[in-house]
Amino acid sequence: MNNKVIIQTDVTKAVINKNIYGHFAEHLGRCIYEGIWVGEDSPIPNTQGIRNDVLEALKRIKVPVLRWPGGCFADEYHWKDGVGPREARKRMVNTHWGGVIENNHFGTHEFMLLCELLECEPYICGNVGSGTVQEMSEWVEYMTFDGESPMANWRKENGRSAPWKLTYFGIGNENWGCGGHMRPEYYADLYRRYQTYVRNYGDNRIYKIAGGANVDDYRWTEVLMQQAGGLMDGLSLHYYTIPGDFWLGKGSALDFSEDEWFVTMKKALHMDELIAKHSTIMDRYDPEKRIGLIIDEWGTWYDVEPGTNPGFLYQQNTIRDALVAGLHFNIFHHHADRVQMTNIAQTVNVLQAMILTEGERMILTPTYHAFDMFKVHQGAELLSTESSLVASANGDDTLPALSVSASKNAQGDIQISLVHIDPRQAAEVSLELRGNHAEWASVSGTLLTAATMNAHNTFEQPDVVTPVPLRDVHVAGDTLHVKMPAMSLVTLIIKS
Ligand code: AHR
Repeated sequence: MNNKVIIQTDVTKAVINKNIYGHFAEHLGRCIYEGIWVGEDSPIPNTQGIRNDVLEALKRIKVPVLRWPGGCFADEYHWKDGVGPREARKRMVNTHWGGVIENNHFGTHEFMLLCELLECEPYICGNVGSGTVQEMSEWVEYMTFDGESPMANWRKENGRSAPWKLTYFGIGNENWGCGGHMRPEYYADLYRRYQTYVRNYGDNRIYKIAGGANVDDYRWTEVLMQQAGGLMDGLSLHYYTIPGDFWLGKGSALDFSEDEWFVTMKKALHMDELIAKHSTIMDRYDPEKRIGLIIDEWGTWYDVEPGTNPGFLYQQNTIRDALVAGLHFNIFHHHADRVQMTNIAQTVNVLQAMILTEGERMILTPTYHAFDMFKVHQGAELLSTESSLVASANGDDTLPALSVSASKNAQGDIQISLVHIDPRQAAEVSLELRGNHAEWASVSGTLLTAATMNAHNTFEQPDVVTPVPLRDVHVAGDTLHVKMPAMSLVTLIIKS
């Protein structure tokens, strides 16, 4: 049986918020230090301390929004330690991540510079767990107040006269865990209190994000929506794809069996159920869908690479990770009416990273290429699709072998993304485009695939997994016939 997909080219369902393609960078391992910040005196070419190779690579995938400084680090971070002359900044211990010295050289000014260079929106996570209301309130004043005030004056003394534009602000992180081990009722009250002092100065408008649930803690979402829903713009959700057990062994990034491949795909697909169920609760309190579901941590989480610091969460990245990313993107697209932002964990050298560095060397991961291929959907309108898809079986488990989503951009181009998870055989797909559409001027496609399940890029062989033009696409009337190799991602662009 063939896989059949019908795409209604003039039935749009929601706008795919570009922030669905957001990222997350924490003071963890080698993400910020070495991965992004090398300092102005580094032999690694940099722009005011930020390494140029990473900057250029991130610009290419059009990072729309970047979350910082954590993560668990956010609830131990005191922003005042990270401004002013760098050499005078306080040194602290990063107790959560490896017990290393944090010299605070990358602080508010450096992060805002990074966002300016990337032309992306900053998303700052404030400290509720160990910080004060005053501290959070003053941080927002420091960043956004234009005029005469203690914090604005201090910002000016530190070299920045104009305020920054800041939209996204999180009121704590994982407040059920590393962010304070709170009960939802207690956090809901703290949220109400802290957010009161997160002010809108001048014409800056803050989009306030409440710390949300861990995985399937639906009660957390219920309590937050009921007790604080009216005071928030977004509510977060964290879910990681972990093939094994978080505490007993998560599984290896490179050395895994076909069974683990399927378990990984199944767990990635679980994101769909989580979004649906959390959304159902949100719908009861917010039927207009004003409040966004903000999935500000997601991605694969494996055991660290042998020989690396267990507190640094450094893992390699294979074609399996690229497919996990693709599955997530299609799921996020289909929930675009509620999901307003997501942030993969994390940008460089940590968990499901886009980029790995080793001193001055840098490589792009298969996940980077998935982001690159799917970026065409940013801000486009989701199209209605119906599909009948072949299943991929592994023992008792049956998963859909294919995942698909389609969108239309402002120019009327149609963009289709397909993820084929079966590692054993190719798949034929027919895509029928129905509805009024202009004559097609061109059809082009990009393919990402690999010969083995654990194919990955290394510093010696950086292009083992890299996108190539798709050859196996044939047009017959209004139908496209595509042959997808085993374990592959495809993005098609149909220009009018
Ligand atoms: O991304 C790594 C960690 O995972 C984050 O710091 C924390 O929020 C989550 O538990």
